[in-house]
Amino acid sequence: MPTDAGSASTSHHGPAPLRALVAFGPTHEPIDDVRFIGNRSSGRMGAAIAAALRASGCAVTVVRGPGAPAVEGCADARFTTAADLLAALRSAWPEHDLLVMAAAVADFRPASRQSGKMRRESGAQALALVPTEDILAGLAGSRRPGQYVVGFALERPEELAASALAKLERKRADAIVANPLETMDAADVDGRLLFAGGAAASPPGGRMAKDRFAHWLAAEILPRAEARRRGEG
Ligand code: CTP
Repeated sequence: MPTDAGSASTSHHGPAPLRALVAFGPTHEPIDDVRFIGNRSSGRMGAAIAAALRASGCAVTVVRGPGAPAVEGCADARFTTAADLLAALRSAWPEHDLLVMAAAVADFRPASRQSGKMRRESGAQALALVPTEDILAGLAGSRRPGQYVVGFALERPEELAASALAKLERKRADAIVANPLETMDAADVDGRLLFAGGAAASPPGGRMAKDRFAHWLAAEILPRAEARRRGEG
């Protein structure tokens, strides 16, 4: 009769660290060989969240756009366009338990990229744009059991709550960080967290530095992602 049946549970190691995938920063969609359509995202909020998750013991993979900072102690991948980001996240997502999608993804890209430079001599130009894929909705919709998905919503203050909640449902995320538009490229944040099912949480004290907000957010999200991984949430 085997006597070591319980040996696996006598291990002194805790559960494996939660594996978090954090995407942040802007996309750049090329118009020609020297120009692009971008946005004002700095990537600071996402980088602060990656650092806070790392400090809380997660194994973190960062996927960051042009100009967004690297984060110490995290695996690092880069993107330029929305298509790059989609490819990077699709390949990394199956190996992770938590997605924090803080990237400022272009909703439109030029229908075609002109080679060389557009010339002023050509006169007035119209730029045809086509929609990009909704990356968050795609990843959330194709998740395996155990995975937890957090999105972001940038909204005008007067429609923040209603619009963020609609986005949460449309994209099938587990939670969404709702921020007023002024958050982009700012040092502070005045965000709140909305959960699928209708619960909401706000950090005590209102507007605060992105680092502080990131620690509050990590503390809110981690227990929920851990529960999901255990099949409880
Ligand atoms: N997002 C995405 N793919 C896109 C656009 C946005 O994955 N093509 C993600 C963002 O990273 C964010 C969330 O969706 O986590 C909400 O982004 P936001 O720009 O607020 O919403 P949109 O889907 O662009 O909707 P709208 O422009 O109507 O506000």
